[in-house]
Amino acid sequence: MEKGNFRRHRRLRRSDSMRSLVRETYLHKEDLIYPIFAVEEDNVKREIASMPGVYHYSLDRLNEEVREVVDLGIQSIMMFGVPDHKDAVGSEAYCDTGIVQRAIKQIKEEFPDLTVIADTCLCQYTDHGHCGVIEDGYVQNDQSLDLLTQTAVSQAKAGADMIAPSNMMDGFVSAIRKGLDEAGFVDVPIMSYAVKFSSAFYGPFRDAAHSTPQFGDRKTYQMDPANRLEAIREAESDIEEGADFLMVKPALAYLDIIRELKDRFPLPMVAYNVSGEYAMIKAASQNGWLNEEEVVLEKLTSMKRAGADLIITYFAKDAARMLNQ
Ligand code: PBG
Repeated sequence: MEKGNFRRHRRLRRSDSMRSLVRETYLHKEDLIYPIFAVEEDNVKREIASMPGVYHYSLDRLNEEVREVVDLGIQSIMMFGVPDHKDAVGSEAYCDTGIVQRAIKQIKEEFPDLTVIADTCLCQYTDHGHCGVIEDGYVQNDQSLDLLTQTAVSQAKAGADMIAPSNMMDGFVSAIRKGLDEAGFVDVPIMSYAVKFSSAFYGPFRDAAHSTPQFGDRKTYQMDPANRLEAIREAESDIEEGADFLMVKPALAYLDIIRELKDRFPLPMVAYNVSGEYAMIKAASQNGWLNEEEVVLEKLTSMKRAGADLIITYFAKDAARMLNQ
């Protein structure tokens, strides 16, 4: 080719300052949501084996962790409860004095400005580990909706600023919206886990939340990783039912879905950077095989580039520290 008869893309990459002039995507601390696990017992700060750097906290230690999160400039947390008592119908999930309700209440008392999102599901609370009620070996949709609605309402009563239903029952958004409205929580938004794939990347979370299904798997309610059009249908119905946010979960293996939904629907888009994605990077960097800081920033930036407005991530504190530097 004749000299100069081509485009010189490298002109815009010559210096740090030139590169920052043309940078298209930024990660902000305000984009990050940090998941926290509350457990019963006293004086517990216990590292989760498959998630180095992530801990179980008992209520008397919980606010220490939240203080750290708030001091780093993170605006929002996702609250998970890990109860001692489990039964067939997940009673502790919708008990006003359940672990997650007490956790939310005490956090909001000390940190009224922090946005506390409640994960709304039954799997940590059921003895069979499924996200709904079982009959004839099958997770029953409509019966589960009543319990999920009760769970959401009790979380809102405890002070949750937002409800994030992760159970993948059909109709969960409209059921929960109706329940919240009737209980007077018209201003509590729903962040729907609209597109949640049945993924092997949830493994470490299930260790953390003690929520592994005791029989079968979640394939009759969570989505097949092979499907794109079905993801659009799931998102569509959640929007019709009144979702305020759409979530895609996991994030890394599903960036195409994030982009697709972001292009189609005008709702804030949330990516859940799940436990297995966290564990992979931690393990590789502990072996010296990856540079953790660089990989974390690259990965979170890629989720934003794909169209995520917000990212739920166990790396939130690490990323906030890096962004603060
Ligand atoms: C509960 C729930 C799960 C996750 C968030 N909420 C687990 C599951 O569906 O099995 C996974 C989060 C993660 O892996 O980080 N239904």
